[in-house]
Amino acid sequence: MPTDIIIASENAHKAKEIQALLGPEFLCRTLRDFPDAPEVEEDAATFAGNAVKKALTLVNWLKQSEDHTEGWVLADDSGLEVDALDGAPGVLSARYAATERQPGNSPDEKNNAKLLLELKGRAAHHRAARFRCVIALAQAGQYSHPKIFNGTCEGHIEEAARGTHGFGYDPLFVPDGHEQTFGELGESVKSQLSHRSAALRELKDWLANH
Ligand code: IMP
Repeated sequence: MPTDIIIASENAHKAKEIQALLGPEFLCRTLRDFPDAPEVEEDAATFAGNAVKKALTLVNWLKQSEDHTEGWVLADDSGLEVDALDGAPGVLSARYAATERQPGNSPDEKNNAKLLLELKGRAAHHRAARFRCVIALAQAGQYSHPKIFNGTCEGHIEEAARGTHGFGYDPLFVPDGHEQTFGELGESVKSQLSHRSAALRELKDWLANH
């Protein structure tokens, strides 16, 4: 019997990526299977804070509703950190271009335009950046502190968007050792290099021993 992993996200694309990396010994489900699970405001100051908050909220809810007290609960948070901007957009990556009139997540094009503006005039060697993914893994049915996994992908921000693959800041981000953006390189190259796959590989190794 595969071990259940409940992902604290409705994102089917994310679930597919995690399932592919973990393999058939695990059965990944998402919040789509748990429509009554509470929504979580991602208001922590760090990626780890948000990931832990999402994981523990789901563990508590599952325990109270006496549903799924076995297997694992997995939550992740990710974003882009630009050195010249002191780590911004960071935990605000999805809502970097939000305004008072339009709070919440902003369209990728607007976030990208804001980032280019903030970095305008900066030379290539001042455009270093990384994608970071933090995963919190908690045991279903238990009130223990989640185990944290970290993955990063180093690179830099280009001066203009290039490529149509991926999402978010992909058309602006060139990973180290490459000349094309993630938007040009496409999914299969990205899946080898990405922050999310790095964190998931760490998690898979850990699960193999637990
Ligand atoms: P989330 O953790 O999936 O909610 O991602 C937060 C935000 O970070 C996204 O909305 C994107 O703006 C950015 N982000 C995270 N991972 C990636 C990536 O792999 N490529 C491009 N942008 C990303």
